[in-house]
Amino acid sequence: MFKNIFTKPIFISISPTAEKNDIILALKLLLQPWKWKSGESREKFKSSLAYYLGVKDIFLFDSGRNALYAILLSLNLKEGDEILIQAFTCTAAVNPILWLKARPVYVDVSTDGVNMLPKDVEKKITLKTKAIIVQHTFGFSAEMDEILKIAKKHKLAVIEDVAHAFGGKYKRKMLGTLGDAAILSFGRSKIISSVSGGAAVVNNKAIAENLEAFYRSCRPPKARWVAQQLLHPIIFGCVKLSYNFLYFGRILALTAKVLRLYTPSVCKAEKKGGRPPLPPSVMPNALAALGLNQLDKLDRFNEHRIKVAKIYEAGLKKNKKVLLVKSLPKTKSVFLYFPVAFENSFISDEFLLYAKRESVYLEVWPARTVIGPPGTSLNKLFYIAGSCPSAESLALRSIVLPTSPLTSYKDALEIVNLINTHAR
Ligand SMILES: Cc1ncc(COP(=O)(O)O)c(C=O)c1O
Repeated sequence: MFKNIFTKPIFISISPTAEKNDIILALKLLLQPWKWKSGESREKFKSSLAYYLGVKDIFLFDSGRNALYAILLSLNLKEGDEILIQAFTCTAAVNPILWLKARPVYVDVSTDGVNMLPKDVEKKITLKTKAIIVQHTFGFSAEMDEILKIAKKHKLAVIEDVAHAFGGKYKRKMLGTLGDAAILSFGRSKIISSVSGGAAVVNNKAIAENLEAFYRSCRPPKARWVAQQLLHPIIFGCVKLSYNFLYFGRILALTAKVLRLYTPSVCKAEKKGGRPPLPPSVMPNALAALGLNQLDKLDRFNEHRIKVAKIYEAGLKKNKKVLLVKSLPKTKSVFLYFPVAFENSFISDEFLLYAKRESVYLEVWPARTVIGPPGTSLNKLFYIAGSCPSAESLALRSIVLPTSPLTSYKDALEIVNLINTHAR
Protein backbone atom coordinates (compact mmCIF):
# COMPACT_ATOMS: atom_id res chain seq x y z
CA MET A 1 0.00 0.00 0.00
CA PHE A 2 2.79 2.42 0.89
CA LYS A 3 5.13 1.43 -1.98
CA ASN A 4 4.00 4.20 -4.30
CA ILE A 5 2.99 6.80 -1.76
CA PHE A 6 5.44 9.43 -2.97
CA THR A 7 5.64 8.30 -6.61
CA LYS A 8 4.41 10.80 -9.17
CA PRO A 9 1.90 8.82 -11.23
CA ILE A 10 1.74 9.13 -15.01
CA PHE A 11 -1.78 9.71 -16.27
CA ILE A 12 -3.25 9.87 -19.69
CA SER A 13 -6.61 11.58 -19.37
CA ILE A 14 -7.16 13.17 -15.97
CA SER A 15 -7.50 16.85 -16.90
CA PRO A 16 -4.37 16.53 -19.08
CA THR A 17 -4.22 20.12 -20.34
CA ALA A 18 -5.30 22.03 -17.22
CA GLU A 19 -2.38 24.10 -15.95
CA LYS A 20 -2.23 26.29 -12.86
CA ASN A 21 -3.66 29.38 -14.58
CA ASP A 22 -6.53 27.34 -16.09
CA ILE A 23 -7.47 26.08 -12.62
CA ILE A 24 -7.27 29.59 -11.13
CA LEU A 25 -9.41 30.92 -13.99
CA ALA A 26 -12.03 28.19 -13.38
CA LEU A 27 -12.07 29.09 -9.69
CA LYS A 28 -12.48 32.81 -10.44
CA LEU A 29 -15.31 32.12 -12.91
CA LEU A 30 -17.00 29.85 -10.38
CA LEU A 31 -17.23 32.88 -8.07
CA GLN A 32 -18.68 35.10 -10.84
CA PRO A 33 -21.97 33.43 -11.82
CA TRP A 34 -23.06 36.51 -13.78
CA LYS A 35 -20.38 35.60 -16.35
CA TRP A 36 -21.47 31.98 -16.75
CA LYS A 37 -24.04 32.15 -19.55
CA SER A 38 -23.28 35.25 -21.56
CA GLY A 39 -20.51 37.77 -21.92
CA GLU A 40 -17.83 38.75 -24.38
CA SER A 41 -15.73 35.56 -24.19
CA ARG A 42 -17.95 33.51 -26.52
CA GLU A 43 -17.59 35.98 -29.41
CA LYS A 44 -13.85 36.37 -28.71
CA PHE A 45 -13.31 32.61 -28.66
CA LYS A 46 -15.28 32.25 -31.89
CA SER A 47 -13.33 34.94 -33.74
CA SER A 48 -9.97 33.66 -32.43
CA LEU A 49 -10.80 30.15 -33.65
CA ALA A 50 -11.92 31.51 -37.03
CA TYR A 51 -8.64 33.45 -37.31
CA TYR A 52 -6.54 30.41 -36.33
CA LEU A 53 -8.22 28.17 -38.90
CA GLY A 54 -8.62 30.89 -41.53
CA VAL A 55 -12.38 30.32 -41.91
CA LYS A 56 -15.50 32.49 -41.66
CA ASP A 57 -18.34 30.39 -40.26
CA ILE A 58 -17.89 28.89 -36.79
CA PHE A 59 -20.67 28.00 -34.33
CA LEU A 60 -19.84 27.21 -30.71
CA PHE A 61 -21.80 24.50 -28.90
CA ASP A 62 -21.69 22.79 -25.50
CA SER A 63 -19.96 19.73 -27.00
CA GLY A 64 -18.45 18.30 -30.17
CA ARG A 65 -21.28 15.75 -30.43
CA ASN A 66 -23.91 18.48 -30.43
CA ALA A 67 -21.89 20.43 -33.01
CA LEU A 68 -21.94 17.29 -35.18
CA TYR A 69 -25.69 16.94 -34.61
CA ALA A 70 -26.16 20.54 -35.78
CA ILE A 71 -24.15 19.90 -38.97
CA LEU A 72 -26.01 16.66 -39.76
CA LEU A 73 -29.35 18.38 -39.09
CA SER A 74 -28.32 21.06 -41.59
CA LEU A 75 -27.93 18.39 -44.29
CA ASN A 76 -31.73 17.80 -44.22
CA LEU A 77 -31.33 14.02 -43.91
CA LYS A 78 -34.29 11.66 -44.35
CA GLU A 79 -35.02 8.64 -42.17
CA GLY A 80 -32.81 5.75 -43.27
CA ASP A 81 -30.21 7.90 -45.04
CA GLU A 82 -26.75 6.46 -44.55
CA ILE A 83 -23.69 8.22 -43.16
CA LEU A 84 -20.26 6.63 -43.51
CA ILE A 85 -18.11 6.74 -40.40
CA GLN A 86 -15.05 4.75 -39.49
CA ALA A 87 -15.10 1.90 -36.98
CA PHE A 88 -12.57 2.46 -34.15
CA THR A 89 -14.38 5.51 -32.85
CA CYS A 90 -16.33 6.88 -29.92
CA THR A 91 -20.08 6.53 -29.41
CA ALA A 92 -20.25 10.34 -29.13
CA ALA A 93 -19.23 10.59 -32.80
CA VAL A 94 -21.85 8.06 -33.97
CA ASN A 95 -24.90 8.95 -31.89
CA PRO A 96 -25.83 12.24 -33.62
CA ILE A 97 -26.51 10.14 -36.75
CA LEU A 98 -28.97 8.00 -34.78
CA TRP A 99 -30.70 11.01 -33.19
CA LEU A 100 -31.71 12.03 -36.73
CA LYS A 101 -32.97 8.51 -37.53
CA ALA A 102 -30.23 8.09 -40.13
CA ARG A 103 -27.97 5.00 -40.24
CA PRO A 104 -24.25 4.80 -39.51
CA VAL A 105 -22.41 2.54 -41.96
CA TYR A 106 -18.97 1.64 -40.72
CA VAL A 107 -15.82 1.90 -42.82
CA ASP A 108 -12.75 -0.17 -41.92
CA VAL A 109 -9.39 1.36 -41.03
CA SER A 110 -6.20 0.66 -42.98
CA THR A 111 -4.20 -2.36 -41.79
CA ASP A 112 -1.29 -0.23 -40.58
CA GLY A 113 -3.13 2.90 -39.46
CA VAL A 114 -5.95 4.30 -37.34
CA ASN A 115 -7.97 6.11 -40.03
CA MET A 116 -10.55 5.12 -42.64
CA LEU A 117 -9.43 3.17 -45.68
CA PRO A 118 -10.52 5.00 -48.88
CA LYS A 119 -10.99 1.68 -50.72
CA ASP A 120 -13.51 0.58 -48.10
CA VAL A 121 -15.30 3.94 -48.34
CA GLU A 122 -16.05 3.18 -52.01
CA LYS A 123 -17.27 -0.32 -51.13
CA LYS A 124 -19.70 0.91 -48.48
CA ILE A 125 -21.41 3.60 -50.60
CA THR A 126 -25.04 2.89 -51.58
CA LEU A 127 -27.82 4.99 -53.12
CA LYS A 128 -28.79 6.03 -49.58
CA THR A 129 -25.35 7.39 -48.63
CA LYS A 130 -25.42 11.14 -47.99
CA ALA A 131 -22.21 12.02 -46.17
CA ILE A 132 -18.82 10.81 -44.95
CA ILE A 133 -17.57 11.67 -41.47
CA VAL A 134 -13.78 11.63 -41.71
CA GLN A 135 -12.08 11.17 -38.35
CA HIS A 136 -8.45 12.23 -37.95
CA THR A 137 -7.81 9.70 -35.19
CA PHE A 138 -5.33 10.72 -32.46
CA GLY A 139 -4.35 13.70 -34.63
CA PHE A 140 -3.13 11.63 -37.63
CA SER A 141 -4.55 13.10 -40.81
CA ALA A 142 -6.82 10.86 -42.89
CA GLU A 143 -6.19 10.39 -46.63
CA MET A 144 -8.09 13.54 -47.60
CA ASP A 145 -7.32 13.73 -51.34
CA GLU A 146 -8.66 10.25 -52.00
CA ILE A 147 -11.69 10.69 -49.75
CA LEU A 148 -12.58 14.08 -51.27
CA LYS A 149 -12.29 12.55 -54.75
CA ILE A 150 -14.69 9.73 -53.85
CA ALA A 151 -17.09 12.20 -52.20
CA LYS A 152 -17.10 14.40 -55.29
CA LYS A 153 -17.74 11.44 -57.59
CA HIS A 154 -20.75 10.30 -55.52
CA LYS A 155 -21.92 13.83 -54.52
CA LEU A 156 -21.49 13.22 -50.79
CA ALA A 157 -20.92 15.83 -48.08
CA VAL A 158 -17.63 15.54 -46.21
CA ILE A 159 -17.57 16.31 -42.49
CA GLU A 160 -14.16 16.22 -40.87
CA ASP A 161 -14.06 15.03 -37.27
CA VAL A 162 -11.20 17.09 -35.85
CA ALA A 163 -11.98 16.19 -32.22
CA HIS A 164 -8.47 14.69 -31.87
CA ALA A 165 -6.58 16.82 -34.36
CA PHE A 166 -6.93 20.55 -33.73
CA GLY A 167 -3.83 22.25 -35.14
CA GLY A 168 -2.96 19.35 -37.46
CA LYS A 169 -2.37 19.87 -41.18
CA TYR A 170 -2.86 18.09 -44.49
CA LYS A 171 -0.64 19.40 -47.27
CA ARG A 172 -0.31 22.80 -45.59
CA LYS A 173 -4.06 23.11 -45.03
CA MET A 174 -5.48 23.13 -41.52
CA LEU A 175 -7.49 20.01 -40.69
CA GLY A 176 -11.10 21.12 -40.42
CA THR A 177 -10.95 23.29 -43.54
CA LEU A 178 -10.85 20.61 -46.25
CA GLY A 179 -14.43 19.31 -46.33
CA ASP A 180 -17.90 20.90 -46.33
CA ALA A 181 -17.88 21.14 -42.56
CA ALA A 182 -15.95 19.97 -39.51
CA ILE A 183 -16.27 19.55 -35.78
CA LEU A 184 -13.79 20.49 -33.11
CA SER A 185 -14.07 19.23 -29.54
CA PHE A 186 -12.85 20.99 -26.43
CA GLY A 187 -13.77 18.08 -24.17
CA ARG A 188 -11.78 17.39 -21.03
CA SER A 189 -9.12 15.18 -22.62
CA LYS A 190 -8.84 16.82 -26.02
CA ILE A 191 -5.99 18.85 -27.61
CA ILE A 192 -7.22 21.96 -25.78
CA SER A 193 -10.04 21.85 -23.29
CA SER A 194 -12.87 24.02 -22.05
CA VAL A 195 -13.94 20.94 -20.00
CA SER A 196 -16.89 20.53 -22.35
CA GLY A 197 -17.46 22.29 -25.64
CA GLY A 198 -17.29 21.98 -29.38
CA ALA A 199 -17.41 23.92 -32.60
CA ALA A 200 -19.02 23.42 -35.98
CA VAL A 201 -16.77 24.80 -38.72
CA VAL A 202 -18.62 25.30 -42.00
CA ASN A 203 -17.26 25.80 -45.53
CA ASN A 204 -20.51 25.32 -47.41
CA LYS A 205 -23.05 28.12 -47.86
CA ALA A 206 -26.21 26.01 -47.70
CA ILE A 207 -25.03 24.18 -44.56
CA ALA A 208 -24.00 27.50 -42.97
CA GLU A 209 -27.45 29.03 -43.57
CA ASN A 210 -29.31 26.06 -42.10
CA LEU A 211 -26.91 25.86 -39.18
CA GLU A 212 -27.23 29.55 -38.42
CA ALA A 213 -31.02 29.14 -38.09
CA PHE A 214 -30.60 26.15 -35.74
CA TYR A 215 -27.90 27.91 -33.70
CA ARG A 216 -30.21 30.88 -33.11
CA SER A 217 -32.80 28.52 -31.62
CA CYS A 218 -30.29 27.15 -29.04
CA ARG A 219 -29.83 28.61 -25.55
CA PRO A 220 -26.91 28.38 -23.10
CA PRO A 221 -27.06 25.42 -20.66
CA LYS A 222 -28.46 25.68 -17.13
CA ALA A 223 -26.32 27.31 -14.43
CA ARG A 224 -25.92 24.03 -12.50
CA TRP A 225 -24.34 22.37 -15.55
CA VAL A 226 -21.92 25.29 -16.05
CA ALA A 227 -20.94 25.09 -12.37
CA GLN A 228 -20.28 21.34 -12.72
CA GLN A 229 -17.94 22.00 -15.67
CA LEU A 230 -16.08 24.76 -13.79
CA LEU A 231 -15.60 22.44 -10.82
CA HIS A 232 -13.99 19.74 -12.97
CA PRO A 233 -10.46 21.19 -13.37
CA ILE A 234 -10.43 22.22 -9.70
CA ILE A 235 -11.42 18.78 -8.41
CA PHE A 236 -9.15 16.89 -10.78
CA GLY A 237 -6.25 19.26 -10.16
CA CYS A 238 -6.43 18.05 -6.53
CA VAL A 239 -6.98 14.43 -7.59
CA LYS A 240 -3.81 14.47 -9.72
CA LEU A 241 -1.71 15.90 -6.90
CA SER A 242 -2.86 13.38 -4.31
CA TYR A 243 -3.65 10.28 -6.36
CA ASN A 244 -1.22 7.95 -4.65
CA PHE A 245 -1.11 9.70 -1.28
CA LEU A 246 -2.99 7.29 0.99
CA TYR A 247 -5.56 6.96 -1.80
CA PHE A 248 -6.69 10.53 -1.03
CA GLY A 249 -7.02 11.49 -4.69
CA ARG A 250 -9.00 8.38 -5.54
CA ILE A 251 -11.37 8.97 -2.62
CA LEU A 252 -11.83 12.60 -3.71
CA ALA A 253 -12.62 11.53 -7.29
CA LEU A 254 -15.15 8.97 -6.06
CA THR A 255 -16.79 11.42 -3.65
CA ALA A 256 -17.10 14.05 -6.37
CA LYS A 257 -18.67 11.45 -8.67
CA VAL A 258 -21.20 10.30 -6.05
CA LEU A 259 -22.11 13.90 -5.20
CA ARG A 260 -22.39 14.68 -8.95
CA LEU A 261 -20.01 17.60 -8.66
CA TYR A 262 -19.03 16.99 -12.28
CA THR A 263 -20.77 15.41 -15.28
CA PRO A 264 -19.58 12.18 -16.94
CA SER A 265 -18.04 12.58 -20.40
CA VAL A 266 -20.40 9.93 -21.81
CA CYS A 267 -23.64 9.07 -19.98
CA LYS A 268 -25.29 5.64 -19.74
CA ALA A 269 -27.99 6.35 -22.36
CA GLU A 270 -25.35 7.41 -24.88
CA LYS A 271 -23.73 3.98 -24.73
CA LYS A 272 -26.97 2.68 -26.27
CA GLY A 273 -27.22 5.42 -28.89
CA GLY A 274 -29.32 7.77 -26.73
CA ARG A 275 -28.96 11.47 -26.11
CA PRO A 276 -26.99 13.18 -23.35
CA PRO A 277 -29.15 14.94 -20.71
CA LEU A 278 -28.18 18.36 -22.09
CA PRO A 279 -29.99 19.34 -25.33
CA PRO A 280 -27.84 21.07 -27.97
CA SER A 281 -26.92 24.39 -26.37
CA VAL A 282 -24.66 27.28 -27.26
CA MET A 283 -21.32 27.26 -25.48
CA PRO A 284 -21.72 29.15 -22.21
CA ASN A 285 -19.55 32.24 -21.86
CA ALA A 286 -17.57 30.85 -18.89
CA LEU A 287 -16.44 27.79 -20.85
CA ALA A 288 -15.52 29.99 -23.81
CA ALA A 289 -13.28 31.93 -21.39
CA LEU A 290 -11.56 28.66 -20.44
CA GLY A 291 -11.27 27.81 -24.15
CA LEU A 292 -9.68 31.17 -24.95
CA ASN A 293 -7.07 30.68 -22.25
CA GLN A 294 -6.23 27.27 -23.71
CA LEU A 295 -6.19 28.50 -27.32
CA ASP A 296 -3.21 30.68 -26.41
CA LYS A 297 -1.36 27.49 -25.50
CA LEU A 298 -2.42 25.40 -28.50
CA ASP A 299 0.81 25.69 -30.50
CA ARG A 300 2.98 25.09 -27.43
CA PHE A 301 0.90 22.02 -26.49
CA ASN A 302 1.14 20.62 -30.01
CA GLU A 303 4.89 21.19 -30.27
CA HIS A 304 5.23 19.34 -26.96
CA ARG A 305 3.06 16.46 -28.18
CA ILE A 306 5.19 16.16 -31.33
CA LYS A 307 8.41 16.04 -29.28
CA VAL A 308 7.00 13.38 -26.94
CA ALA A 309 5.86 11.35 -29.97
CA LYS A 310 9.41 11.52 -31.35
CA ILE A 311 10.73 10.01 -28.10
CA TYR A 312 8.25 7.12 -28.39
CA GLU A 313 9.10 6.63 -32.08
CA ALA A 314 12.84 6.61 -31.50
CA GLY A 315 12.58 4.32 -28.48
CA LEU A 316 10.16 1.80 -29.97
CA LYS A 317 10.99 1.61 -33.67
CA LYS A 318 13.41 -1.30 -33.25
CA ASN A 319 11.00 -3.31 -31.11
CA LYS A 320 9.55 -5.98 -33.44
CA LYS A 321 6.76 -6.80 -30.97
CA VAL A 322 5.03 -3.45 -31.33
CA LEU A 323 3.48 -1.78 -34.33
CA LEU A 324 3.65 1.99 -34.67
CA VAL A 325 1.43 4.17 -36.83
CA LYS A 326 3.11 6.36 -39.46
CA SER A 327 1.91 9.82 -40.44
CA LEU A 328 1.07 10.34 -44.12
CA PRO A 329 3.64 12.32 -46.14
CA LYS A 330 3.11 16.11 -46.14
CA THR A 331 0.91 16.05 -43.05
CA LYS A 332 1.38 17.43 -39.57
CA SER A 333 0.15 15.02 -36.89
CA VAL A 334 -0.56 16.50 -33.48
CA PHE A 335 -0.72 13.24 -31.47
CA LEU A 336 -3.61 13.57 -29.04
CA TYR A 337 -2.27 10.17 -28.01
CA PHE A 338 0.51 7.95 -29.36
CA PRO A 339 -0.97 4.59 -30.38
CA VAL A 340 0.92 1.33 -30.02
CA ALA A 341 -0.38 -2.06 -31.20
CA PHE A 342 0.91 -5.27 -29.65
CA GLU A 343 0.81 -8.76 -31.21
CA ASN A 344 -2.39 -9.71 -29.38
CA SER A 345 -4.83 -8.55 -26.71
CA PHE A 346 -3.28 -10.79 -24.05
CA ILE A 347 0.13 -9.05 -24.26
CA SER A 348 -1.58 -5.68 -24.46
CA ASP A 349 -3.74 -6.24 -21.33
CA GLU A 350 -0.82 -7.75 -19.43
CA PHE A 351 1.27 -4.69 -20.25
CA LEU A 352 -1.43 -2.33 -18.93
CA LEU A 353 -1.39 -4.18 -15.60
CA TYR A 354 2.39 -4.24 -15.51
CA ALA A 355 2.54 -0.47 -16.13
CA LYS A 356 -0.14 0.21 -13.51
CA ARG A 357 1.99 -1.50 -10.86
CA GLU A 358 4.65 1.11 -11.70
CA SER A 359 2.07 3.93 -11.29
CA VAL A 360 1.80 4.44 -15.05
CA TYR A 361 -1.92 4.59 -15.79
CA LEU A 362 -2.24 3.91 -19.50
CA GLU A 363 -5.49 3.41 -21.40
CA VAL A 364 -7.19 1.75 -24.31
CA TRP A 365 -8.99 3.91 -26.86
CA PRO A 366 -11.80 3.54 -27.86
CA ALA A 367 -12.23 0.21 -25.97
CA ARG A 368 -11.43 -3.43 -26.66
CA THR A 369 -14.25 -3.17 -29.22
CA VAL A 370 -14.55 -0.90 -32.27
CA ILE A 371 -16.76 1.69 -30.56
CA GLY A 372 -15.97 2.97 -27.08
CA PRO A 373 -16.12 3.70 -24.25
CA PRO A 374 -16.37 0.22 -22.67
CA GLY A 375 -19.97 -0.90 -22.31
CA THR A 376 -21.13 0.66 -25.59
CA SER A 377 -23.77 -1.49 -27.32
CA LEU A 378 -22.49 -2.27 -30.82
CA ASN A 379 -25.96 -3.62 -31.77
CA LYS A 380 -27.74 -0.43 -30.86
CA LEU A 381 -25.15 1.49 -32.87
CA PHE A 382 -25.80 -0.77 -35.89
CA TYR A 383 -22.28 -2.17 -36.03
CA ILE A 384 -22.24 -5.50 -37.89
CA ALA A 385 -19.64 -7.87 -36.39
CA GLY A 386 -16.93 -8.71 -38.91
CA SER A 387 -17.69 -5.73 -41.17
CA CYS A 388 -14.45 -3.94 -40.25
CA PRO A 389 -11.84 -6.64 -39.48
CA SER A 390 -8.81 -4.34 -39.26
CA ALA A 391 -10.57 -2.03 -36.81
CA GLU A 392 -11.66 -5.02 -34.70
CA SER A 393 -8.11 -6.35 -34.57
CA LEU A 394 -6.65 -2.92 -33.78
CA ALA A 395 -9.13 -2.36 -30.95
CA LEU A 396 -8.17 -5.69 -29.39
CA ARG A 397 -4.41 -5.15 -29.53
CA SER A 398 -3.73 -1.46 -29.12
CA ILE A 399 -3.19 0.94 -26.26
CA VAL A 400 -2.52 4.67 -26.25
CA LEU A 401 0.41 6.46 -24.65
CA PRO A 402 0.19 9.96 -23.16
CA THR A 403 1.55 13.00 -24.97
CA SER A 404 -0.17 15.86 -23.13
CA PRO A 405 1.61 18.83 -21.53
CA LEU A 406 1.50 16.78 -18.30
CA THR A 407 3.74 14.13 -19.86
CA SER A 408 7.39 15.00 -19.39
CA TYR A 409 10.17 13.71 -21.67
CA LYS A 410 11.32 11.64 -18.68
CA ASP A 411 7.84 10.10 -18.40
CA ALA A 412 7.96 9.20 -22.11
CA LEU A 413 11.38 7.56 -21.69
CA GLU A 414 10.09 5.63 -18.68
CA ILE A 415 7.15 4.32 -20.74
CA VAL A 416 9.48 3.35 -23.62
CA ASN A 417 11.61 1.47 -21.11
CA LEU A 418 8.58 -0.33 -19.64
CA ILE A 419 7.40 -1.43 -23.11
CA ASN A 420 10.85 -2.58 -24.20
CA THR A 421 11.28 -4.54 -20.97
CA HIS A 422 7.84 -6.12 -21.15
CA ALA A 423 7.52 -6.83 -24.89
CA ARG A 424 10.90 -8.13 -26.02
C1 LIG B 1 -13.42 10.99 -32.43
C2 LIG B 1 -14.41 11.79 -31.61
N1 LIG B 1 -15.32 12.52 -32.25
C3 LIG B 1 -16.22 13.27 -31.58
C4 LIG B 1 -16.23 13.31 -30.20
C5 LIG B 1 -17.26 14.13 -29.51
O1 LIG B 1 -16.72 15.22 -28.84
P1 LIG B 1 -17.37 15.77 -27.49
O2 LIG B 1 -16.89 14.91 -26.38
O3 LIG B 1 -16.89 17.18 -27.39
O4 LIG B 1 -18.85 15.68 -27.64
C6 LIG B 1 -15.27 12.57 -29.50
C7 LIG B 1 -15.16 12.59 -28.04
O5 LIG B 1 -15.91 12.29 -27.26
C8 LIG B 1 -14.33 11.78 -30.22
O6 LIG B 1 -13.41 11.04 -29.59
